[in-house]
Amino acid sequence: MFTINENYLKLQSSYLFVEIAKRVKEYQTANPEKKIVRLGIGDVTKPLTSEVIKALHQSVDEMSQAETFKGYGPEIGYEFLQTAILENDYKKRGINLELDEIFISDGAKSDLGNISDILGQANRVAVTDPVYPAYVDVNVMGGRAGIYHDELQKNPQKGWSNIVYLPCVAENDFVPDLPKEKVQLIYLCYPNNPTGTVLTKTQLKVWVDYAIKNQALILFDSAYEAFITDKQIPHSIYEIEGAKEVAIEFRSFSKTAGFTGVRCGYTIVPKALLGYLSNGEKVILNKLWNRRQTTKFNGVAYIIQRAAEACYSELGQREIRANIEAYLNHAKIIREGLQGIGLTTYGGVNAPYVWVKTPQGISSWQFFDILLNNIQVVGTPGSGFGPSGEGYFRLTAFGSLENTKEAVARLKDLR
Ligand code: MLT
Repeated sequence: MFTINENYLKLQSSYLFVEIAKRVKEYQTANPEKKIVRLGIGDVTKPLTSEVIKALHQSVDEMSQAETFKGYGPEIGYEFLQTAILENDYKKRGINLELDEIFISDGAKSDLGNISDILGQANRVAVTDPVYPAYVDVNVMGGRAGIYHDELQKNPQKGWSNIVYLPCVAENDFVPDLPKEKVQLIYLCYPNNPTGTVLTKTQLKVWVDYAIKNQALILFDSAYEAFITDKQIPHSIYEIEGAKEVAIEFRSFSKTAGFTGVRCGYTIVPKALLGYLSNGEKVILNKLWNRRQTTKFNGVAYIIQRAAEACYSELGQREIRANIEAYLNHAKIIREGLQGIGLTTYGGVNAPYVWVKTPQGISSWQFFDILLNNIQVVGTPGSGFGPSGEGYFRLTAFGSLENTKEAVARLKDLR
């Protein structure tokens, strides 16, 4: 008899975005004549830029010739892409890294999940709440989450018993307080998904200092850094002194360059970052991650890495910037439109997400149902991101301009 990883049975029936897609599909099947506007999952709608397409074509051609054909590449990425990342995303911000501290992958979500492989099961995990659900789910799978409390159990505590939730709500300006109990793994995502809010350098330093003092690890997801408009806001956690000793940074071309369907991201594991054995002995985390990746992963396709490299050419940067500006304009349209009808919104200035307070104390899922059934607009219920997301709703700026305006117009009609 073989046994399974029973932690999987603890997971809620489906991943948040799968559940939403299911509900929307059911509605569309029952109401085929209705045109649904989807501002739910944060998936881009703008096509790849001309520089990226050009690089894809060129590298496909290279693959057709024996002299330029590429088989297995380096598991952790080609030097040409690591160098482009280092020069553009880090050195320009005064951060130096070695190339083998930059691990190219098929996206931040994979790495954020896989990193769990090299971390001990006994670690206490802290997440900001609301939170991108994958961080929590991978820790459920990894046996670190404990048991799930829900309202039906009439338990005053909601969420997973072993996960420390750090509420980020209007009352604390969406700035998480340090945990009251000791934690070892801290997930931070800034600019934040789902609230669209940011942390200043001073606010982020509080976490770096905490991690240094408590021998904790920060898992910093900066997938949305390209959307930062405010010059004071840090793009990388390594802008904070001491962060290389306590933080892994996850980045993605998905939202920056429209690669959600192409798949490319990267993870920085500095060599200065040390993990601990249970006897307190230290190990270099970079070596462990390298071992994990070289064993379980054969690298991102050459043509995709060439496409990612093309994002850093002068024209590539201009094109990507134009797309980001357009999405930020959608966020502005959503923010101003909703505020105009008396709704309170947060985020959407340094991020592609607008976080909306549901009106009249309506729950997040009720608001989801009202919007789907009455005006056929799809968003994401805040409670799907964690207990403190209840009473909020997320709209993404990644739709088309036309759909964004249409959604706002329909919301005005709903009033
Ligand atoms: C989201 O909607 O939160 C994101 O698109 C999910 C993701 O990046 O995987």
